[in-house]
Amino acid sequence: MDFLKFLKTVALAAAVVLPQAALASEGPALPKQSWGFIGVFGQFDQAALKRGARVAVEVCMACHSIKYIKFDSLKKLGFTEPEVIALAEAQSRNKKDAMISPMDPTSAKDTFGVIPPDLSLITKARKGYEDYVYALLSGYATDADRALVQKVMEDGALSDKESMEVTSALGLNAHQPPEKIKEVLTRIQANENFNRYFPGNFFAMPQPLNDGAVTYPDGVENSLKQMSHDVTTFLAWAAEPSLMERKALGLKVMLYLFVLTIMFYAVKRRIWAKIPH
Ligand code: HEC
Repeated sequence: MDFLKFLKTVALAAAVVLPQAALASEGPALPKQSWGFIGVFGQFDQAALKRGARVAVEVCMACHSIKYIKFDSLKKLGFTEPEVIALAEAQSRNKKDAMISPMDPTSAKDTFGVIPPDLSLITKARKGYEDYVYALLSGYATDADRALVQKVMEDGALSDKESMEVTSALGLNAHQPPEKIKEVLTRIQANENFNRYFPGNFFAMPQPLNDGAVTYPDGVENSLKQMSHDVTTFLAWAAEPSLMERKALGLKVMLYLFVLTIMFYAVKRRIWAKIPH
């Protein structure tokens, strides 16, 4: 086979195999959320940060650390000194401590089989960023999903219609063999942690948030979606607490360069005006 033919064969094989591989591994598209802090003029929503910090400390920190942030730094989000002390003490820590989970890594490994990852940089560490973290928190099988799974499994063999219905409800790849789909449904029935957006669908984290899980003192509705959005906003802040300063400095620098450009232009015109043509 000459080299050109060889290349053509490889290209053809790749064209056939790669889209299938992508189809098999990719979950449903992440629903896009609006994040006020994205973009040149983006700002963190201070009230959302404060609510999100509460969710992170009261719920996520039972298993996860956020080790690059200290409890004391939460004052920057508007918590008072006594509030910070109370949040730290609830996790058996002192206000000067880093936000380390009270669950030690060895017992976490015994319980879950894996150590829950540190969340300090999680919004930057996963494909999909904030949208992924949000989707994960609100992407577990709901009661309605479970009822549907129950219904289609009772019927024995999956009809095409049932298979379409259940795969679209759960965000599964509809083009996989029916045995594979049934395997997923059986695991959902066995109460394994199913999540639409986690690659491979099953993982060690039980659903951490439900409607009303955390009490919000500011009266905002504590729905699953709202808490997921708030805690993700907080984790984005944790990953880059100086984001607002960075943007403010960037704007000042741009303004400075703009003014400098105009001045240089004026100077250039003056100098060249004196030179006879
Ligand atoms: C009961 C313990 C527990 C609680 C509470 C918990 N998690 Fe987890 N979390 C885990 C475990 C265990 C994993 C590792 C899962 C795996 O890789 O199989 C994990 C993984 C994650 C991941 C990484 C997923 C990935 O793509 O690898 C994120 C993000 C996450 N948790 C966010 C949160 C947030 C936000 C909260 C609070 C709202 C929270 N978790 C509460 C146990 C917990």
